[in-house]
Amino acid sequence: MSGSEGEGTATLPAAVESLLAWYDSRHRDVPWRGEESPYRIWVAEVMAQQTRVETVRDYWHAFLQRFPDVESLAAADRGEVLKAWEGLGYYARARRLHDAAAQVVRDHGGELPRDPASLQELPGIGPYTAGAVASMAFGRPAPAVDGNTRRVLSRLFDLEDPSDSELEEAARALLEEAGGRPADLNQALMDLGGALCTPENPDCGRCPVAEVCMALERGTVSERPPPRRRPDRPHHDVGVGVVWDGRGRVLISRRPEDGMLGGMWEFPGGKLEDGEAPAEAVRRELREEMEIEVEVGDLVARVDHEYSHLRVTLHAHHARHVSGTPRARAATDWAWVEPGRMEEYAFPRASHAVIERLLE
Ligand code: ADE
Repeated sequence: MSGSEGEGTATLPAAVESLLAWYDSRHRDVPWRGEESPYRIWVAEVMAQQTRVETVRDYWHAFLQRFPDVESLAAADRGEVLKAWEGLGYYARARRLHDAAAQVVRDHGGELPRDPASLQELPGIGPYTAGAVASMAFGRPAPAVDGNTRRVLSRLFDLEDPSDSELEEAARALLEEAGGRPADLNQALMDLGGALCTPENPDCGRCPVAEVCMALERGTVSERPPPRRRPDRPHHDVGVGVVWDGRGRVLISRRPEDGMLGGMWEFPGGKLEDGEAPAEAVRRELREEMEIEVEVGDLVARVDHEYSHLRVTLHAHHARHVSGTPRARAATDWAWVEPGRMEEYAFPRASHAVIERLLE
């Protein structure tokens, strides 16, 4: 370990022993613990990338019912996969998982590769997920450094602002002492960061490695690690139309595959221009993007939503279709749908409040 040889090194076996004993005594209910299928572990860890374990649980079970193995996922339609992911957010994860499943079937005979470097060749598998899958599914001593682990390691070894490779090196030093339990050690670090070694008010009194924690000894716990700054997120007002065809159906359109929320369905519309009212934006966008004329009516709902890199306020207005056949990139990219059947399509979360209003 660079920068922490000497006192740190001698205590590594003791630290690992305490961590594993603490882990054994806890039985945290992470649904895929004890799971042996690499595919099922992989799906869980991709879902958990930006989502809390408690939220993942139900989605994971439902997803695996629908796509029980990598072959069924590889063979599925994109729309079906997005539908099963609906509500979890960060939909690029679902598209990449789907693409990766096809690659596993095509190039690896349906078996996930076992080493972290080959795992990382697959779409959507970065260093964390590769380490998590390699350790949990294949028993490899591979580091899996998530946000919680980063905090624990920074404190345990008193690392001021560690790079990813320094963190991996720190994790490897611990894994070397973990014998045949790399997955347990990785997950002990994640759990410790979630349960005791929290960003604010860490509970050092109950910490299994308090005695060997270098930041605790030096009084730097509250400074480790430095916060990762999020850039300010821009805010957009977006006007969308709930366009009725006069026969109880509403127009929906599908977003392009590449880009944000790719392949998801939505109510057509777009960003407000400077000084433009939402209703005007709806009329203009439907004319420009779908080549139809509409008469815009009352507000259906106003919805605030936060994405990782931007915030939007959706202004959804009723509208009446006056003339023109909708046009989109392809005929499969728009549809007239009764509100009661919208559950068959994958919509981003911000649209759900609009749909609920239509169903009231
Ligand atoms: N977050 C994501 N994967 C996890 C795991 N295996 N254990 C604890 N927290 C996690």
